[in-house]
Amino acid sequence: MKKTFSIAIDGPAGAGKSSVAKALAKALDAMYLDTGAMYRAFGLALLRMGVDVTDPAAVAAHAGNTDISVDYVDGGQRIYIGGEDVTGAIRSPEVSAAASLTSAVPEVREEMVALQRRIAEGHNVIMDGRDIGTVVLPNATLKVYLTASAEERARRRCRELEEKGAPQPYEQVLREIEERDWRDTHREASPLKAAEDAVIVDTSDMSLDESVSALRALAEKTCG
Ligand code: DC
Repeated sequence: MKKTFSIAIDGPAGAGKSSVAKALAKALDAMYLDTGAMYRAFGLALLRMGVDVTDPAAVAAHAGNTDISVDYVDGGQRIYIGGEDVTGAIRSPEVSAAASLTSAVPEVREEMVALQRRIAEGHNVIMDGRDIGTVVLPNATLKVYLTASAEERARRRCRELEEKGAPQPYEQVLREIEERDWRDTHREASPLKAAEDAVIVDTSDMSLDESVSALRALAEKTCG
């Protein structure tokens, strides 16, 4: 298939990137790549190996030798470590923290960026993450920086956790989100920031449907 467009969606944790990107990919019949899941799988692989994820040298030593792959089942992305499906296992708070720490290591980012570009090659693609518009797809047809207030993101996360039957106190969830924001925006390697040519969309007062409609309108304008 001839490649016609790529859409980069970046933003902080909990802004709704993956839900919006997934719905948009369906509407536009494009491939959706959740790059955060790849960093999470790497973090989980290291936790399982007993690597000290707070030690950048120890983490860097493993960049490139964890066998991470993605596949699509019924339109949904599945992620694997050495062939084992870890799509569910990467969503724990421990893995979130490990992914945030290990994704700050430049050697890890180099490997992941190369893998992300390889997976996307030749497809109409919607990728979400932190550095898609700035690093992974600098020539993306459309770049969106999706954000929302930390308080609103914490409220959404609390609702999700409650629905999963694993509620956590709002204050704790908010603190974790603020810590992750700080680490993601202050790291030296590809910190989270809006690309200069990104359209900034604040979803604090938008429903999921409204967010998808807003991005669909942008995509129709730029991607034809
Ligand atoms: O989007 P997420 O919460 O699943 O991402 C998990 C972690 O990975 C997050 O702390 C930031 C990091 N990440 C990154 O550094 N670059 C990306 N393109 C995607 C995620």
